[in-house]
Amino acid sequence: MIDDLWYKNGVFYCLSIGTYMDANGEGIGDFKELLRRLDYLHGLGVTAIWLMPFQPSPGKDDGYDISDYYGVDQRYGTLGDFVEFTHGCRQRGIRVIIDLVVNHTSDAHPWFRDARSSPDSQHRDWYVWADKKPASANKGMVFPGVQKSTWTYDKEAKAWFFHRFYDFQPDLNTSNPYVQAEILKIMGFWIQLGVSGFRMDAVPFVISTKGSKVTTPIEQYDMLRSLREFLQWRQGNAIILAEANVLPETDMEYFGKDGDRMHMMFNFHVNQNLFYAMASADSRPLAKALAATKPRPASAQWGLFLRNHDELDLGRLTKAQRDVAFKSFGPDKDMQLYDRGIRRRLAPMLGGDRRRLELAYSLMCTLPGTPVIRYGDEIGMGDNLALPERNCARTPMQWSTEPQAGFTESDKPCSPVIDEGPYGYEHINVAKQRRDPNSMLNWTERIIRMRKEVPEIGWGDFRVIATRDPAILAIRYDWRNNSVLFVHNLDEKPRETSFSVGLAGDEGKHLINLLSEDHSEANNRGKHTLMLEAYGYRWYRVGGLDYLLKRTDIDGVNANHPE
Ligand code: NOJ
Repeated sequence: MIDDLWYKNGVFYCLSIGTYMDANGEGIGDFKELLRRLDYLHGLGVTAIWLMPFQPSPGKDDGYDISDYYGVDQRYGTLGDFVEFTHGCRQRGIRVIIDLVVNHTSDAHPWFRDARSSPDSQHRDWYVWADKKPASANKGMVFPGVQKSTWTYDKEAKAWFFHRFYDFQPDLNTSNPYVQAEILKIMGFWIQLGVSGFRMDAVPFVISTKGSKVTTPIEQYDMLRSLREFLQWRQGNAIILAEANVLPETDMEYFGKDGDRMHMMFNFHVNQNLFYAMASADSRPLAKALAATKPRPASAQWGLFLRNHDELDLGRLTKAQRDVAFKSFGPDKDMQLYDRGIRRRLAPMLGGDRRRLELAYSLMCTLPGTPVIRYGDEIGMGDNLALPERNCARTPMQWSTEPQAGFTESDKPCSPVIDEGPYGYEHINVAKQRRDPNSMLNWTERIIRMRKEVPEIGWGDFRVIATRDPAILAIRYDWRNNSVLFVHNLDEKPRETSFSVGLAGDEGKHLINLLSEDHSEANNRGKHTLMLEAYGYRWYRVGGLDYLLKRTDIDGVNANHPE
């Protein structure tokens, strides 16, 4: 049955092995200890782990500069440890997806070393070269302010090479059939070791034409179909989750009109508008973003996130909107990055205000898609703005009040543990929050459990319900003869709101609150009136709790849902 697709209604958790847990006391996390921590993630209820790069790497871009695609960096363990880890995940019903970073390699990769050694080398054409400095060398930098150029002269090669990202990340010539074949081989290798798919890095750049004469890169979308075909042939239920911060009009090119390209994409468009909506208490641009990203094939899914390991990229908002978001969430220059984003973690951005954190999480869990949680956000971890660029939000996981937050026995962790201020590990840590029934951690666990019990979000059709109050966002989902409704108050003040659920007959009369006892009955004109506290949210099942009895086994049978 099509509703077997595991990624459609899961909860993903993203973690970086190096900063998660260290067993050997070397100051850097490793697979052995991660394996021991799996019961924590199992208890939290996440259904899939997205593991950030762990392959051998000089580590100049947090592992996104790979020097061997077929190994595990020795600091994190061995291939054997990795397989034990994927096995442990499988035993607990947790899927693993890993990063597929094939737009570029590290300049330390043997392919690049060979390529630069001679124009006749076997790997020369695996990269993108020019004899003279291309006219476009000062254009298209992904890290403005830090990255100076997209072409760099290599003395050994006596030629210029192209790099969309930092100069130690030479771009692979992804149009070269040998490179394409190697990418498939990399996928096949990790699939064989137990992963269920890939978070594919920088997809628009992977599929773009590259070269000194390319003035406007063209995306070769067919490449996406080849990747998918290969993957599905090797393992039917594996997926690709694309990192592609693109405009809504190109979404379908990535998903494929017949659902034959990417299974999932991160919804960057909704992400930016969500932060703007929270900053301005105006849900309208968010509702627009939801409408703009609505078209997708039935088997495709959005990845819904709040923060990730990069900066919060607000580059697609208008300047005025971006300024509003900056003012609320990252007013100081050192909180901002690359002229477009905010580099902080979620909790400090929201002033550590539990009501706002819950609101943000509740939105992430109830907007169309599969939520993707960043490690540490479940306990409300903070950032360290003294660390450069994006590193400020990549500090070690805070497990306990033990030295170094229980992350390592070494007194030299790979990245400093946050040890002072309100987000210091003595205040914010897993051990403490485990014991406190009202902690952020226990709240997150409950919300994940409830999210998984509402497949209508992952599978159903949605519509934004009119409330005539911009601060209120109300969304209804319909699926297989059931409906759910979510109402959020983005404002710092309480709001009374009134709306009709929009279903035929008596169907929308009762709203059963899934998180507390305050259910709602419509008045005799079919309208519900709710009093939402500041930043309040409500999760309702429409009708009653007998929904499982009502649920049909196939789509399109919505007796009470004539729309
Ligand atoms: C996107 C990743 O999320 C980011 O962390 C990295 O720097 C670039 N791709 C380059 O791989």
